[in-house]
Amino acid sequence: MTVSHLTTPTDHRAQMIEDVRHGLTAYRKHLASKYLYDARGSELFDEITRLPEYYLAGVETEILSERADEIMPEVQPDELIELGSGSSLKTRMLIESMYRNSNGRRYVPVDISEAVLRTAALRLRNEYKWLEIEGLVGDYVPDLGKIRRRGRRIIVFLGSTIGNYVPTLRHSLLRSVTDALEPGDAFVVGLDLVKDEPTMIAAYDDAQGVSAEFNKNILHVINRELGGDIPVDAFEHVTRFDRELVCISQSLRASRKIVANIRALELTVTFAAGEEIHTVVSCKFSRPQVEEEFGAAGMRLNHWFPDDGDRFAIAMASLE
Ligand code: SAH
Ligand code: AVI
Repeated sequence: MTVSHLTTPTDHRAQMIEDVRHGLTAYRKHLASKYLYDARGSELFDEITRLPEYYLAGVETEILSERADEIMPEVQPDELIELGSGSSLKTRMLIESMYRNSNGRRYVPVDISEAVLRTAALRLRNEYKWLEIEGLVGDYVPDLGKIRRRGRRIIVFLGSTIGNYVPTLRHSLLRSVTDALEPGDAFVVGLDLVKDEPTMIAAYDDAQGVSAEFNKNILHVINRELGGDIPVDAFEHVTRFDRELVCISQSLRASRKIVANIRALELTVTFAAGEEIHTVVSCKFSRPQVEEEFGAAGMRLNHWFPDDGDRFAIAMASLE
């Protein structure tokens, strides 16, 4: 098992400084959702996946358990690359199916959160002695092209994490996936589907307040990493459905006027009472839209595996 960095910690910090400065000095303040995931953020996300309101994880698990043995024999990959692998829990079904249905023995999880990546890799190493694990810490947006090819690939992107990108960024991300594929390779992606608004909203605004704590964690990360003094408890978690973008949109709203300093940026930020910082979009999908988006990025949708209730789907694509 190896864990290496696609981006050096120095470059990661420089990027963070630039992103946070840009986001907090913008007319509509925003922060990139990738900064939610330090060790605590990854733990909170795992807790979210166990909440009754967050149906996404359970339904995706159900689909993968039924379909893994259809996916793997078709691709017969030499390596399984996973973007935003997190705790790699659902991936186990694909890893086990790869063992049963191909000669592939290599797993390449890619995640920005080193803590979650290391913990997941150690657990997998102990359970699957035959598995060669090559963990990569980094941002799959700029770094996907840096991953060395060693045979036929299956690239998987689970959890509907692709929904955390607005359409323009999603297009660039899908283009870089296309660039990382060769004929015979496959892209397997988990997608949360459009459904009634109360169900979608509850998944991001649970009764126990775990989603709120997760959202606020981004401010703790900035305070710790960049020497900020943002009073986290003075912000409220806001969840709404944006019908135009077809996304759940989350933000943090200042409950009073706030003046905060961020030492590493040499910046003082003022928030008016009621002002929001936008943190995450979670876009929701339909089959025609996915077909169109894959097509625009140079991929063809080969399979669409929804659950019985059409809540979530696993899509499988390859080069056109
Ligand atoms: N795939 C897992 C985890 C989803 S949470 C599941 O379905 O449960 C999203 C994961 O993507 C987190 O582990 C987070 O650290 C990672 N992540 C978010 N943005 C990223 C980026 N730009 N590059 C690499 N990893 C990223
Ligand atoms: C990782 N990602 C797909 C989650 C989602 O559903 O958008 C992140 C999340 N944010 C708040 N709750 C969950």
